[in-house]
Amino acid sequence: MVDSFEKIPVKIFTDIREGSVFMANEIASLITQKQKENQTCVLGLATGNSPKTLYAELVRLHRNEGLSFRNVVTFNLDEYYPIDKQALQSYNRFMKTHLFDHVDIDPANIHVPDGEVPKEEVKAYCLEYERKIEDAGGIDLQILGIGNNGHIGFNEPGSNTNSRTRLTALDNSTRIANSYEFANISLVPRLAITMGIGTICKARKILLMAWGQVKAPVVQKAVEGHITEQIPASILQQHNDCVFVLDEAAATELTRFKSPWLAGDCEWTPKMIKKAVVNTALKINKPVLSLTNTDYMDQGLGELLVEKGDAYAINLDVYYMLRDSITGWPGGKPQIALPNHPERTTPYPKRTIIFSPHPDDDIISMGGTFQRLHDQGHDVHVAYQTSGNIAVTDEFVTRFLDFAVGFEDMFGIDSKKSNEILAQAREYLERKKSNEVDTPEIRAIKGLIRRCEAKATCRYVGLPDENSHFMNLPFYETGTIEKNPMGEKDVEITVDLLRKLKPHQVFCAGDLADPHGTHKVCLDVVIAALRQIRDEGDDWVNECWMWLYKGAWQEWDISEIEMAIPMSPDQVMKKRYGIFIHQSQKDMVPFQGSDSREFWQRAEDRNSNTANQYAQLGLTKYAAVEAFVRWKY
Ligand code: F6R
Repeated sequence: MVDSFEKIPVKIFTDIREGSVFMANEIASLITQKQKENQTCVLGLATGNSPKTLYAELVRLHRNEGLSFRNVVTFNLDEYYPIDKQALQSYNRFMKTHLFDHVDIDPANIHVPDGEVPKEEVKAYCLEYERKIEDAGGIDLQILGIGNNGHIGFNEPGSNTNSRTRLTALDNSTRIANSYEFANISLVPRLAITMGIGTICKARKILLMAWGQVKAPVVQKAVEGHITEQIPASILQQHNDCVFVLDEAAATELTRFKSPWLAGDCEWTPKMIKKAVVNTALKINKPVLSLTNTDYMDQGLGELLVEKGDAYAINLDVYYMLRDSITGWPGGKPQIALPNHPERTTPYPKRTIIFSPHPDDDIISMGGTFQRLHDQGHDVHVAYQTSGNIAVTDEFVTRFLDFAVGFEDMFGIDSKKSNEILAQAREYLERKKSNEVDTPEIRAIKGLIRRCEAKATCRYVGLPDENSHFMNLPFYETGTIEKNPMGEKDVEITVDLLRKLKPHQVFCAGDLADPHGTHKVCLDVVIAALRQIRDEGDDWVNECWMWLYKGAWQEWDISEIEMAIPMSPDQVMKKRYGIFIHQSQKDMVPFQGSDSREFWQRAEDRNSNTANQYAQLGLTKYAAVEAFVRWKY
């Protein structure tokens, strides 16, 4: 049954690491097989976020397991145009940094399109690139990533099936998606040299990798949809040896996971029933209690009727699950023990830690709940996990430097040390090249700006100053968009704070599916810390519940929500003003991703959307709802 939806073979791994190891092993065995046959192995290679772990694994295989690249010839898919080969964002540089500088490949065998070729020569250059691929005997194995819009290489939607290596324009969505590398959208090149779809499809074997939930919708379209030039990756359905390698998050929109009841046998757990009924009700725009046996049959839920009986009885069960998830008491309702309430009545008051990856995630993602917890008498602490310094513009720093200098002048303060720091900071910003990594002083000033905003928000909610904790986790402090993985020190700092406060509940950003971002590392750090404390035998930790909110980017699927906190229109406004306090994050923010809305708009849209969905399902209509899922670590 599964195959009837999937038109490209798919391999699914628990995470990006396992998937990358699989890909690396495929590549390695092809290289060694060709070595035995005394042949060259021609690889087509990709850049971007997706292959970084794969290249790291290939480098490991070379260093530790003797994998040699001496018979390997490579052709990269693409390069920005125009771009200096030395530029931080150039794919020529990317390939050296992540692979070529660390393996024994003959430099003469490396081909990456050249973004420095004069415009009038590009056409001939592209023809030559194609010829070189042919001369090498064609590509044995092509590695691909996939853009959110379905592009492969830089073949954007609309690219011709038979296209060849050429100069092409980048889609605006690609420029936005890749702007994280450039600090600012205006710096992202508008053109690129890319192999064509026809070039790619001539490869004898293709492996396309996709990691993370953000890729899930486009993976579903490419694998299960019609072949269309609007989704270039769907054209791979015509290739006779192409496999999509996914992590679980990137596979979530495939029918077998999204609606398993349509793809064959499925186990009808309460969670699955809720998912099926809620999705069906939303799809056909009917309240849950109005679904009929016929609706169940028409929407592929006949099996559920066979197993559980009448539609109305199932509807009621699901309705109660939805109803019981809604509560105005995120810390539990004191005095009254409600059997199906999401949180426990006792102890009251609770000690709560809101872990906020950046200095504004607390208010953006759970501002209403934060306020309620405080107003309902709980001892609320906020742990700001990272400094968030990367997202402050240089202009903003200059404004604060002006303030600092003005302040000193105004009050006749003449501190040599401070004057020096301010003068150096100014001088640095004036001569700073785009994409240069900030000095530690500038980073510290940027972090301080965000720290002051976070403190102001806590005061606005009503917290005493000692309840905000600034953890400055070291994994974040690279000065670049690329962060280090979680380290021992990160966990140690978190263990110390948890031991000091011994919370009854913690709230964390639960972007489980985000493979690279700060939020995921921040979540992993808290989980590692709680597990360590538990393993070391502290009892209190067994009574500490973990609730996950989603970051500023996505929201939980309505059927997953286990605690829904409604908000009145006044509370929505109060939250909005709380977000406004983060002035450094308003208007033009560096690295804000592909969503051009400001954070307060995203939060309001998400919260009102959740409220509307509850109403659509036949529950009370609130102005807004914040959503949480309990995580058992
Ligand atoms: C890279 C390339 C692109 C990327 C795609 C995904 O050489 O041609 O098609 O594979 O944009 O990028 P990431 O992996 O950064 O999500």
